[in-house]
Amino acid sequence: MEIGSILQTASYDKYLPSQNSDSFKLPFMQDDEWLSSFFQSGRNAIEVLFAETAPGASVLVPDFVCGTVPEAIQRAGCRVVNYHIDDDFTFSFEEINALLSETKILYIVHFFGRKFSETEMKAISHWKNEGITVVEDITMSLYSKDPEAFGFGDYIIGSIRKWLPVSDGGFILSKAKSFDAPKMQSVNLYSYYYQLAQMLKKQYIEAGEKDAKLKETYMNFYHESIRYLFSDYSIAPISPVSMNYILNTQSQNSYFKRVQNYTYLSEGLKDFGDSIRPAVILNPGYVPFGMVVKCTKRDELLQYLIKNDIYCNIHWRLDLPAVFSLSNQILTIPCDERYGKKEMDQILQVIKDFYR
Ligand SMILES: Cc1ncc(COP(=O)(O)O)c(C=O)c1O
Repeated sequence: MEIGSILQTASYDKYLPSQNSDSFKLPFMQDDEWLSSFFQSGRNAIEVLFAETAPGASVLVPDFVCGTVPEAIQRAGCRVVNYHIDDDFTFSFEEINALLSETKILYIVHFFGRKFSETEMKAISHWKNEGITVVEDITMSLYSKDPEAFGFGDYIIGSIRKWLPVSDGGFILSKAKSFDAPKMQSVNLYSYYYQLAQMLKKQYIEAGEKDAKLKETYMNFYHESIRYLFSDYSIAPISPVSMNYILNTQSQNSYFKRVQNYTYLSEGLKDFGDSIRPAVILNPGYVPFGMVVKCTKRDELLQYLIKNDIYCNIHWRLDLPAVFSLSNQILTIPCDERYGKKEMDQILQVIKDFYR
């Protein structure tokens, strides 16, 4: 069975207007009043946030993060100043402190379900008390809840479209301000092709994964969608179908499956020593996007997994000497709610065959 790649569409009724009048709530937001502003993508949300709140400012951004983040900040007219992320995803207090003498905005990223240490949280609180604006990106740990180390930002950024069977969705959360998306068409060529790919994937899976032509077609639609995602950066609102899906399903708590799969995979990987191991320890309350591992012979393993119908991502492959070693070791193994023990065993078996 094929594991990974895009999520197929769910049943159509989940995309109809919501009967549930609840506003958008992520697990960490339960007790607080947040204003949520939705856009087509995370990169749209980032661009709007910086264009509206800090035009022309310098922003401290981790050197290890998806390229779409610094690019969106630059499109907003801001200057990106990098701070370094070490191989264990930590930052240096001294480095950031020195850089903050000229920069008053700090972009913090939650890496793949990793909890910030007490020392890191003390540093972040210190900077907040000094008047630094903290922008917290929760994209890679979206459904996590931790009153000690999650949801502390002045602004919170997230891309929800990667987690659900929707084509689009990125947001800004703030307790002080909401942001308007332009009143334009939300269905552009990116979401048009992405939705088609998700529908065809559903058809392919339901037909027993035998129809190679169907697979080729959904892959072609997927590649077209990504081509448009990376060529049209217009700010667009979230589409009604995606928003309906988010509101209709937010009480389902299906993400506990991710934690279960993650824990199972972690146990299974214990046999492999340093060849492949989880890159972060998952703390209680944290929900992983996927299982990010550090491994030897990463690109060969990636290809071997593809040959065996397992499609992993790399978060992130960056051409930057400072993060060369991290960029060349990491791999994200799918462990989302589509899967259970059977698929995790399939993944472990292929990894075992590879390193044998
Ligand atoms: C940490 C992080 N923030 C923001 C984004 C941007 O989200 P989107 O792809 O929806 O524009 C990404 C994209 O992968 C990301 O990894």
